[in-house]
Amino acid sequence: MNIDVILGLQWGDEGKGKIVDYLADKYDIVARFQGGPNAGHTLVFDGKKYVLHTIPSGVFRPHLINLIGNGVVIDPITFEKELKGLDAADVKYLDRLYISQKAHLILPTHRLLDAANEKAKGKSKIGSTLRGIGPTYMDRTGRNGLRVGDINKIDFKERYERLKQKHLSILSSLPQVDFDLEEEETKWFASMESLRKIPQVNSEYYVNRCLKYGKRILAEGAQGSMLDVDFGTYPFVTSSNTVTAGVCVGLGVSPDKIGEVIGITKAYCTRVGSGPFPSELFDETGERLRKEGHEFGATTGRPRRCGWIDLPQLKYTIMLNGVTQLVLTKIDVLNIFKELKVGVKYIIDGKETEEVPYEIPENIKLVYEEHKGWVQSLAEAVSFEDLPLEAKNYVAALEEQLGVPITMVSTGPDRKELLLRKAH
Ligand code: GDP
Ligand code: IMO
Ligand code: MG
Repeated sequence: MNIDVILGLQWGDEGKGKIVDYLADKYDIVARFQGGPNAGHTLVFDGKKYVLHTIPSGVFRPHLINLIGNGVVIDPITFEKELKGLDAADVKYLDRLYISQKAHLILPTHRLLDAANEKAKGKSKIGSTLRGIGPTYMDRTGRNGLRVGDINKIDFKERYERLKQKHLSILSSLPQVDFDLEEEETKWFASMESLRKIPQVNSEYYVNRCLKYGKRILAEGAQGSMLDVDFGTYPFVTSSNTVTAGVCVGLGVSPDKIGEVIGITKAYCTRVGSGPFPSELFDETGERLRKEGHEFGATTGRPRRCGWIDLPQLKYTIMLNGVTQLVLTKIDVLNIFKELKVGVKYIIDGKETEEVPYEIPENIKLVYEEHKGWVQSLAEAVSFEDLPLEAKNYVAALEEQLGVPITMVSTGPDRKELLLRKAH
């Protein structure tokens, strides 16, 4: 068997959680392969809303195994909160949630470092979620990190202290930030109890064995390709590889095991945090997109920056990921517009290009193609064919220009608000 992948093609928050939750039913295992509690994946079904940060979005499907892979970074405090949320929702997870022994731990001082680093950057801050992601991945690469497999070792506390001291010495040269380290440490060690209850696995063997025995695995991406540490809008990116290649190193599968790559894009575009965003709208239209799309971060509550869909950007991330199918989400948010715009080319220093440049300059402009809006609710549509002609045309135009079939169109946050579409 091959492993299928779902990932975001923009700057995150494309609706990955919803689509993973929907598709999970067809799989035996859902596995996260990168990122950590900087992610906020929202699921809506049976009139309730859930937000997951570290736990894979397959957890609400009974009998499905959920795996947190080696490429993920875990904060035991957030993790415990998520488990409590599942307990409250009466979701049984104990025999079907596994963690890789090789996943790295986010320490309280990683979060403190994140905040101090951002403060030191001043105006050029990244706009991090302050979940300690960057400093934890730095310690992983620097070969200093603590891993989940270390938590039961007798010298775990000493190793923790050593790493903490290292952090404290770095912190002495950074600006002070409000952070009660003692209190956070107490919480951190207390939450370790919950982490210990979750079975740890040698996940690369586990995943490959499952594939060999015909189990269907879905890899769930976090963030989006434009936040990839190598290919995103560096340095305004996250600290992991969010592209398909990240699945291989974040789960321990070889490239030939990658099957379908399902790329998710909103019918428009958003970004949260700092950094370039060519199609960003600073006018009333941007405001209307934010309001209509409830564009406020699922992790930090920050307002998301909004703009029209940007095809050169999407072509770039489709190329990087080897996308085989596209899912278009939040098309209903466009219901209010008489006229829709689609960015088809960049103009940089007076020259037209379809390439995302090394650094996106501030003066970048987009050439837009205009499309007629449908200006009506899509709530009644139960199949793609039920959509108004203008909506069908919009989807067909995107599909034609992107060159990849759009197999699903999402018309609302609920699990059921999804229109399946045959590949053309
Ligand atoms: P993720 O990080 O990619 O999982 O996305 P988020 O959960 O951060 O953000 C997506 C938001 O859009 C969530 O509030 C979802 O409930 C919501 N959402 C997902 N699909 C749709 C859709 O088709 N229409 C609308 N209106 N909302 C959607
Ligand atoms: P999901 O999985 C949107 C952004 C932050 C910041 C930058 C670096 O919900 O799509 P970090 O905390 O990683 O150091 O922040 O990346 N960011 C996200 N934006 N969705 C996410 O995840 C994000 N995770 C990180 O806003 O600009
Ligand atoms: Mg999100």
